[in-house]
Amino acid sequence: MDAVIFNSNTGFSKKYANWIAQALKIRLVDYCDMTKILANGSDVIYVANVKAGAISGHGKVMRRYNVHEIVAVGMSDPKEIDMQQFARINNIKDIDKLHYVQGGLDYAKQKGINKFILKVAFTLRAHHSTKDKENRKKMFEKLTKFVDKTDKNNIQFIIDKYKVDANERK
Ligand SMILES: Cc1cc2nc3c(=O)[nH]c(=O)nc-3n(C[C@H](O)[C@H](O)[C@H](O)COP(=O)(O)O)c2cc1C
Repeated sequence: MDAVIFNSNTGFSKKYANWIAQALKIRLVDYCDMTKILANGSDVIYVANVKAGAISGHGKVMRRYNVHEIVAVGMSDPKEIDMQQFARINNIKDIDKLHYVQGGLDYAKQKGINKFILKVAFTLRAHHSTKDKENRKKMFEKLTKFVDKTDKNNIQFIIDKYKVDANERK
């Protein structure tokens, strides 16, 4: 394995990618820099956030590199994810390569269009849940509270799968 590429806005996907890169002693590469750093056809693991059901940037990564594992990082409970449907939406043929893990929410760190979309979604949710203005405000604050659901155990199976490779590199 040559590298772990991460595509992350607020750091949760980067955290997972970093755990893998450290354990396997391979390079950690930002999606934004990948074409400058990695040769086409490199063997990679891709870790990226999920937005509106889509795995950020995976099309470009799949076209350029030999992607062995895709780790999609989202806020939804993994139990709610239909992996067949998730793979179909993202046009991923080999479902065995695709994994979903929980990231987190850092509303304060979000910027631009992403922050705007979250703001609209949470405002609407608060609006529908109660008529009282003060309660709506409280609900919005609750929805935008920092949450970190990352857990190294979620990606340990990937580390274990490629560990033999890493041991040979010692
Ligand atoms: C605009 C937007 C859309 C999102 N859509 C989804 C989604 O469809 N499913 C999901 O599970 N999480 C969704 N999320 C939550 C992010 O995937 C989650 O916060 C993730 O941990 C962010 O990872 P990052 O810090 O690496 O960017 C969305 C977040 C934003 C900002």
